[in-house]
Amino acid sequence: MSGEKDRLQRLAKQHLMLHFSDMTAYDDDEMTIIERGEGVHVFDQDGRRFIDGLSGLYCVALGHSHGDEIGEAAHQQMKSLSYSSNWTIAHPPAIELATRISDLAPDGMNRVFFTSGGSESVEAAWKMAVQWQQANGEPRRRKVIARKDAYHGVTMGALSFTGIPYCRAPFDPLGIPTTHVSNTNAYRHPQGDDEEAFCAALLVGVEEAIEFEDPSTVAMLIAEPVQNAGGCLTPPAGYWQGLREICDRHGILLCSDEVICAYGRLGEWFGAQRYDYVPDMITFAKGLTGAHFSMGGVLMHDKVAEPFFDGRASYNNGYTFGGHPVGSVMALKALEIMERDDVLGNVRRNESVASEALNGLRDIPIVGDVRGAGHFWALELVRDPDTREPFSGPGAEELFKDVLSEALFDRGLICRLDDRADPIVQIAPPLVAEPELFGEIAGILREGLEIAWDHAQESPRAHGSPAASISPI
Ligand SMILES: Cc1ncc(COP(=O)(O)O)c(C=O)c1O
Repeated sequence: MSGEKDRLQRLAKQHLMLHFSDMTAYDDDEMTIIERGEGVHVFDQDGRRFIDGLSGLYCVALGHSHGDEIGEAAHQQMKSLSYSSNWTIAHPPAIELATRISDLAPDGMNRVFFTSGGSESVEAAWKMAVQWQQANGEPRRRKVIARKDAYHGVTMGALSFTGIPYCRAPFDPLGIPTTHVSNTNAYRHPQGDDEEAFCAALLVGVEEAIEFEDPSTVAMLIAEPVQNAGGCLTPPAGYWQGLREICDRHGILLCSDEVICAYGRLGEWFGAQRYDYVPDMITFAKGLTGAHFSMGGVLMHDKVAEPFFDGRASYNNGYTFGGHPVGSVMALKALEIMERDDVLGNVRRNESVASEALNGLRDIPIVGDVRGAGHFWALELVRDPDTREPFSGPGAEELFKDVLSEALFDRGLICRLDDRADPIVQIAPPLVAEPELFGEIAGILREGLEIAWDHAQESPRAHGSPAASISPI
């Protein structure tokens, strides 16, 4: 080990606590320390090159080569105004960014409240919904409808909406009363093969949950256009239109959580445009700045903005770094690059390439399902492709952690193996990726999945408690 490498390994183990990580994993093993990025690749301390197959955490929209351009915008802004808040005063970058986002937004969505990230955005949406309901004479409406297995963040409000028991359990009971309804995993639903019946069954479930809770107590329904956790769960046709109709009928605000899906991940500026609906609020973060700065926000419909601008309500919420001027100019530059380089067009053109490459893996028996949209794909892995029996228990943990994860990593692919719901492999490369990258990723996946399948045949069937999460969120 070189002196510098050794030093960083030692200091990391002594001082740095990783997120969602079993720190004992590094007692004997090295920590992966990523030192630099270039295009769609990142490089570790040894100079080993990896495909950034998850865009960091679904946020490195522009890859790793726009630091100079975006950094120059940041530099210029720092020279004139390095910080000013959005608390009762404004500054030009936040004004320009809010205007730009409104220009890109679905019709009728014209105002933006900035935050520092996804969890804050989700909580800000709930506070907005609750105050909106109060301003409209409905002070009892505080409850939320969310979906099973969905990840909406882990700060205490957002965690109430997150439907992953593993994340919630240590902190139960959670603050905001939330009911979790079925997600859109067609592969695991008895009517999943019939899109119309599947959609109808899901919507009946939503309606029943609202009725059970008493509609006059429900403030907001939150869902992602394509749900991340559980594995890129796309909606059946008519699903979002159905949610819109149910929310309108019951006086509930519809929040489209687009922390992952906004700014091009699905080939449109917003997931709502991709699936042709207009929500009341859109929460966003991650890709807005191409992950060059931590920034998020809530985009609201004129209907939601109304009481806050006609004197009936004053929004009781704020964050020191919400709408940071440096972050705002970086976001403006990232959006400019996306438009200039037709990044959304690239995602749209790549969608069929990604689909073909990943669906080509279905001949490997461990691949139960392949699904996704844009640059956002998942493979659901099964012990038995005929019965769709999932992997579970300590054997599954070993299979994913020690066998598959290692095989993919050794071959230069960073992606996500997640077993918080049914085990999946997730692929979400930067939006600037060339089509050839999907072939390369599929090639690596094939080798890894074949090794994992062979291993699963040799090892005894394992049952017991679900394996722990193998990768971060
Ligand atoms: C849909 C969704 N909402 C909210 C969040 C929370 O965002 P953050 O980690 O920036 O707080 C995430 C994070 O992955 C997310 O995917």
